[in-house]
Amino acid sequence: MSARYTTRILIPSDQDTYRCATQALQRGDVVAIPTETVYGLAGNAFDPDALDKIFIAKERPAMNPLILHIASAQAQTVQDLADAAFIDISEIPEPIIDALNRVINAFWPGPLTLVLPRHTRIPDRLTGGLDTVALRVPAHPVAQKLISSTFPLAAPSANRSGRISPTSALAVYDELKGRIPFIIDGDACEVGVESSILAYIDQGLRLLRPGAISLKELRRESGLKILSTQKHPAEVRAPGMLQSHYAPDTPVKIFRNESELMGLLKNCSTPKAGVLLLEPPSEAELLSLLRSRGYVFEVLSESRDLTEAARQLFATLRKLDQQDLGLLFAQVPPQDQGLGQAIVFFVAIFRKE
Ligand code: TXA
Ligand code: MG
Repeated sequence: MSARYTTRILIPSDQDTYRCATQALQRGDVVAIPTETVYGLAGNAFDPDALDKIFIAKERPAMNPLILHIASAQAQTVQDLADAAFIDISEIPEPIIDALNRVINAFWPGPLTLVLPRHTRIPDRLTGGLDTVALRVPAHPVAQKLISSTFPLAAPSANRSGRISPTSALAVYDELKGRIPFIIDGDACEVGVESSILAYIDQGLRLLRPGAISLKELRRESGLKILSTQKHPAEVRAPGMLQSHYAPDTPVKIFRNESELMGLLKNCSTPKAGVLLLEPPSEAELLSLLRSRGYVFEVLSESRDLTEAARQLFATLRKLDQQDLGLLFAQVPPQDQGLGQAIVFFVAIFRKE
């Protein structure tokens, strides 16, 4: 296991925070940082020792590549990415470059990751030996400030491998205390689910991971056809998208609506179960059944808003997972509602095999 650290939580308003974090990154240490999606465990993307520390602290398999987080100034266009020697654009056709420029213009800085042919200087340790590299320009001011004052940062979600992504500094502490020196507390993440991953693969664009930005928005901005991985689960190309990722310890059963949940509850003999609802229960019968059984239930959005539900998803799941429940029922929304696709995706892979 990794070196033992006394993990300190730093506050952005404290004068010493950026000095401490910058020095740690410069000497090859890792620092957990807030981003608008989830917290990341950041290290110098061009320092193999720092990359090793990320993999060790997370217990992450070496074949699972990391996202390169870059400064906005180096990422206004696809040409900028090539000029900064992050990617090789020699094989990307002109119409795809144009489409990517429109997507960059619309969504960077923000919760979008692009997977493109890598430049030769990108370390193998970062890409897991793939010939592509994943790039993102985070919008969170703390992340942008750190990158601009140091170097591009490799940053996977700041959880131990296979566990729920953290959306607060305390959740990171829960995951990585003793394994890393610093966590910067940038409050709860605004988006709450990971970035969408859009890749240029086999001459076309493909969504590898649904996330904060919907397939519909990406299609609209790019003006091109984008294949959805969800329609082809067998072809998933993001190595980290294996089943059992993001899994809570509690086994999860999925339902779509209240009547389906009622059916599941009637046949459930687990003495201590939990229910994760997208919106407040509308059936009095459901509420009284939950109460009479003493089941714990959490509502992701009182106002039935999917953006809020996504923001609360991982934090609420983490809370339920800490209550020693025998079973957790989790609701998924219809896929075609913007963020619904991301929620369906993440909840579906919560399921334990
Ligand atoms: O929102 C996010 O993207 C967060 C924040 C911290 O930026 N980061 C994040 O990183 O989710 P991580 O490592 O937890 O997930 C990155 C995913 C993994 O599933 C990995 O396999 C995939 O991106 N990935 C990275 N490089 C890739 C590549 N070259 N080709 C395909 N997939 C790649
Ligand atoms: Mg992750």
